[in-house]
Amino acid sequence: MLFKPYDLRGLSLRNRMVMAPMTRNRASVDHVPSLIMVDYYAARADIGLIISEGTSPAPDGLGYARIPGLFNAEHVAAWKSVTDAVHENGGRIFVQLMHTGRASAAANLPAGARSVGPMAEAMADSIFTDADGMQPADVPHALSETEIDEVVAQYAASAKLAITAGFDGVELHGANGYLIEQFLNANVNRRTDGYGGSAAARNRFAIEIVTATVAAIGAERTGIRLSPYGAFNHTGAFDGIEAQYLELARALTSLDIAYVHLVNHASMGAPEVPGSFVATLRETFGGVFMASGGLNRESAERLLQTGAADLVAFGRPVLANPDFVSRMESNAELNAPDFATFYTPGEKGYSDYPVLATA
Ligand SMILES: Cc1cc2nc3c(=O)[nH]c(=O)nc-3n(C[C@H](O)[C@H](O)[C@H](O)COP(=O)(O)O)c2cc1C
Repeated sequence: MLFKPYDLRGLSLRNRMVMAPMTRNRASVDHVPSLIMVDYYAARADIGLIISEGTSPAPDGLGYARIPGLFNAEHVAAWKSVTDAVHENGGRIFVQLMHTGRASAAANLPAGARSVGPMAEAMADSIFTDADGMQPADVPHALSETEIDEVVAQYAASAKLAITAGFDGVELHGANGYLIEQFLNANVNRRTDGYGGSAAARNRFAIEIVTATVAAIGAERTGIRLSPYGAFNHTGAFDGIEAQYLELARALTSLDIAYVHLVNHASMGAPEVPGSFVATLRETFGGVFMASGGLNRESAERLLQTGAADLVAFGRPVLANPDFVSRMESNAELNAPDFATFYTPGEKGYSDYPVLATA
């Protein structure tokens, strides 16, 4: 079933394989998408759907070096070159909106921007900066309820710009310990106002952002990525996690969004997401379900065949193989990804992975 076309709420996908969102830090130091990004994405357009690297909806969300933004005319123009090239090659592309929140270092942020989060507590970790190497994560500014309204509006405005820039839709990054998950996660969010202290309150930030995005661009163009049980960026499981995510899934069902994209980073050393919980989450949401994490041709095909997923996303294999789809078709060997160049600037380890004919 991997190679069968799929209708994603009116958007026709050539196959059921998805390029997972991957931060590659190849934008300019000012966070504008670069020309090599056009080639990188265009070369992978034969996959059913590309989800872009995490892209910030606001200056405060640019906590990593050279990640792209999507909140001004310059970003829109540069992203338009990417989406045009992907569409010319017959592909489809969503942008992943990622606000780094507290996973941020001041040296990476533009002038006037600041690290923000649910609490004024720094993540006990370091963040890479071009200027000074590894730096401790900033102590974030704890967002007030009024400031939360502003952040929600920034997401909606960015989603509108995404459509102007030619994206087919938006994936909200609610996973991996970035701003949305910082609010979802009880280990990070210990607020006692309307945005913390109960499952419903911790879900509220995510639901408000989804609601605003749906209002801005339509439910059929809005997806979300979630990582319950993930540990990245000092999140981790907490009491009541499953009940909270099921409550969130019910809210997402009533918002009728295009898909839920579930992260399983067990293949990267994170705790396993219990299979029974994944099944219940899928059933509770009821809409299009995308699985990801450590998949190969066999395991991905099995997920589709058994109905455990509607779409299957691949990260590192697509990063390292521009001709991933044809290699899957012919069951050919895959190039191995080079970890050393995942986040470095320039073409090396980015747009120079060989295709099969020249491999
Ligand atoms: C270099 C790199 C960058 C990543 N950046 C992001 C990101 O920006 N947003 C996100 O949701 N996940 C990100 N991930 C996680 C991937 O989307 C994916 O879930 C992970 O690589 C596991 O899938 P795989 O085993 O197919 O590689 C990243 C992974 C890698 C290897």
